[in-house]
Amino acid sequence: MGSLDCCVIGTGYVGLVTGACLADLGHSVVCADRDEAKVAGLATGEVPIYEAGLETVVRRNLEAGRLRFTSDINEAVGESELVFITVDTPSDAEGRADLTNVDEVAREIAAAINGYKVIINKSTVPVGTTKRVQRIIEEAMPEYHEFDVVSNPEFLREGTAVADFKNPSRVVVGSDSQKAIDRMLELYEPMSARVMITDPVSAEMVKYASNAFLATKVSYINAIANLCEVVGADVIEVARGMGHDERIGRQFLMAGPGFGGSCFPKDCRALLHIAREHDYSFDLLEGVLQVNTEQHERMVDKIRRLAGAGDDLAGKVIGLLGLAFKANTDDTRESPAVYVARGLIQDGATVLVFDPEAMERAREELEGASFMADAYDAAQGADVLVLLTEWDEFKWLDYGRVMELMRCPVILDTRNWLDAKALRKLGFTYEGVGR
Ligand code: UGA
Repeated sequence: MGSLDCCVIGTGYVGLVTGACLADLGHSVVCADRDEAKVAGLATGEVPIYEAGLETVVRRNLEAGRLRFTSDINEAVGESELVFITVDTPSDAEGRADLTNVDEVAREIAAAINGYKVIINKSTVPVGTTKRVQRIIEEAMPEYHEFDVVSNPEFLREGTAVADFKNPSRVVVGSDSQKAIDRMLELYEPMSARVMITDPVSAEMVKYASNAFLATKVSYINAIANLCEVVGADVIEVARGMGHDERIGRQFLMAGPGFGGSCFPKDCRALLHIAREHDYSFDLLEGVLQVNTEQHERMVDKIRRLAGAGDDLAGKVIGLLGLAFKANTDDTRESPAVYVARGLIQDGATVLVFDPEAMERAREELEGASFMADAYDAAQGADVLVLLTEWDEFKWLDYGRVMELMRCPVILDTRNWLDAKALRKLGFTYEGVGR
């Protein structure tokens, strides 16, 4: 196997994991980012995000000399044949993916191009962006050099990103150039992954279609959960029964407070925008987002009822366990926990919060909450204790002690994560979702 010279532009979640894991495959990788302070930290093995196993991989490859960090994009592109674009594509006000960062990087690549390059887009971008990047580079190149632009969407999950990279369900490569495809096959060869070659537009669509489908599954099971509550069924049993059917599958059938994170909500909105631009009304997907928003609100309603509150929550103390949008990450972007906390604060409740990893990031978006030192402090004097993120450690709390600390022994478990029977036996009023 040959070692390829790669450069990864953008050191967010996707960029950092991609760079470190490609180096781990034996390639020579330079990660470039404009943020000089971040680059300086990374160069000493300091990883600014919480991602299982990532720091180990970064350090191992730094020491082996296969991984470097730089703020000089020009030089990084110049010395690499494979150039990855892994920058942010945030939602704009209309839900459209904002391509400012991608366009800018394309122009920077154009300025630095000095020979054949494969430019690989891993950022989640609207259908047609491969062509757009191609055009920008063609127009901005000071002198002509051969290059190909490839779409290679990423399916990493936060929290398990390193494992997902090393053992992907599939690698999707969208390109019309055999030369670029050959390089991509060489790149992924050490992984013995299932590589699917297709055209760029279909590759771009695979990414949105996959995330929107998974989001649909979550909203579907949440809607079923809401129905289970009124008919007296248990959504866990229903999901178990459904999951045995291989056509449905067991995954992504966990009812909860709604989906969040930096991908599902944003990608659903972006796909809706793409549909609207092409005069297709994607009502199904509108419904998926609506169920999700309502699910956050339903959690606040449940808390209000459990706290025995009337129109507002003034005078009530609510303890929240978990702020991250799911466990094993410190990410609070579009986290259902943050929406619920904001709803409670708006209703006048005193809100005590604790998360094992996400406190720092939550502070930036959650004004008016009290950030506590641990789960027990968050239960202190609470009328209702609400589990919002399925951290393992919340399973193993001393609930006898929790009960003594609370004003009323009431637990809302929005992830159906705790042992309902054991808690009821202790004397708690326990409520889950869809049960
Ligand atoms: C998601 C996809 O799973 C990845 O394949 C994709 O690469 C990534 O987006 C992306 O586009 O970058 P991620 O956002 O890390 O990954 O999170 P997921 O594990 O998919 O969970 C998304 C949300 O759905 C979370 O809030 C989670 O709690 C919720 N969820 C998931 C449920 O409520 N129930 C489930 O059964 C599964």
